[in-house]
Amino acid sequence: MPQSKDAALLRDRPDLAPLIEAAVAARSRAYAPYSGFPVGAALRTRDGRIYVGVNVENASFPVTICAERSALVAAVSLGDREFDEIVVVTDAAGPAAPCGLCRQMLAEFGLDLGVTAVGMEGPAWRLPLRDLLPVAFTAGSFEPRPTAFAPKA
Ligand code: THU
Repeated sequence: MPQSKDAALLRDRPDLAPLIEAAVAARSRAYAPYSGFPVGAALRTRDGRIYVGVNVENASFPVTICAERSALVAAVSLGDREFDEIVVVTDAAGPAAPCGLCRQMLAEFGLDLGVTAVGMEGPAWRLPLRDLLPVAFTAGSFEPRPTAFAPKA
């Protein structure tokens, strides 16, 4: 658990504590030899399952996947698509915001997702994804469209 000033957030949202713990544990398994910046994420389904993800870097740098997208891919791969919270933990002193690519990918599954960023020393913050990605491009942005382009359930 980060010894942090996130006590206030945790007081308000004790339900996030297991997610922070899971993200911290996952972060130790990050594969980040190039950046030296391990990241852990924990994504919670509406019915309470927790999926973790880490950043997995690659010698071809852009191939790297972030922790948030790793967690999302794991969850969807196992059949979950409904999420209510994600917590991201880094080694940075302050909380680090999810990158734009991750915001976009998370948005596919709902803009009401609560996003919490936790640094090792700094205060944590929590914002709804819709505030982190205003005027998002989503499936609804296609309308009207040919049926052929409708996402399959
Ligand atoms: N990274 C994440 O895993 N999540 C983020 O939201 C920001 C960045 C990773 C990607 C890369 O492996 C390292 O952090 C440095 O950018």
